[in-house]
Amino acid sequence: MKIFLDSANIEDIKKYASWGIVDGVTTNPSLVAKENVDFKTRVQEICNVVDGPVSAEVVSITADEMIAEARNIATWAPNVVVKIPFIEEGLKALKVISAEKIMTNVTLIFSPAQAMLAAKAGATFVSPFAGRLDDIGEDGMEVVAEIVNIFQIYGIKTKVLAASIRSNQHILQAMRVGSDVATIPPKLLDKMIAHPLTDKGLAAFLKDWEGMKANT
Ligand code: G3P
Repeated sequence: MKIFLDSANIEDIKKYASWGIVDGVTTNPSLVAKENVDFKTRVQEICNVVDGPVSAEVVSITADEMIAEARNIATWAPNVVVKIPFIEEGLKALKVISAEKIMTNVTLIFSPAQAMLAAKAGATFVSPFAGRLDDIGEDGMEVVAEIVNIFQIYGIKTKVLAASIRSNQHILQAMRVGSDVATIPPKLLDKMIAHPLTDKGLAAFLKDWEGMKANT
């Protein structure tokens, strides 16, 4: 499973990219707003740190304006992916920009039906938001699993990018259901690597090693 970082914070991105485990990055208008930086500059900074797909979202809501934004964003870097919200105008825009070979990530997906339509319109990635489905009492990762399964049934090439990941359990489930990608907030990556038995085991190894050295 590919791991994308769900962040627009360049220091976080540099930190986790240095671990060699970041395959891409997803941003959204809220994540960029938190950084309070120039959007294009930050996206280009991220694209220089991470070779893989970097999602940058349009903020227009009409097809014509989305198309214009997407064409502009697509010039920012070779690995930039244009994020399009799953609304009717977004589908219209998607049809046009997909035909122009612009990479797209259709976001705010909450059902297999939405995912299927986005794929039919040419999406490179679809982003089902697991955590926000959980927030309203649905089973978000079950929706991700359904999308993965349906895409496999029909041989759909669009990649499933599990988003709105809120826990290590979500990450595990994304792996188990075969999601192509999970986009993970920085704070969860720290938790992902940590395990008390690893720390305990290493401490014991080093204690025994020091004990041997003291006796030689
Ligand atoms: O960036 C898209 C998605 O991962 C946002 O997640 O936690 O704001 O629902 P969240």
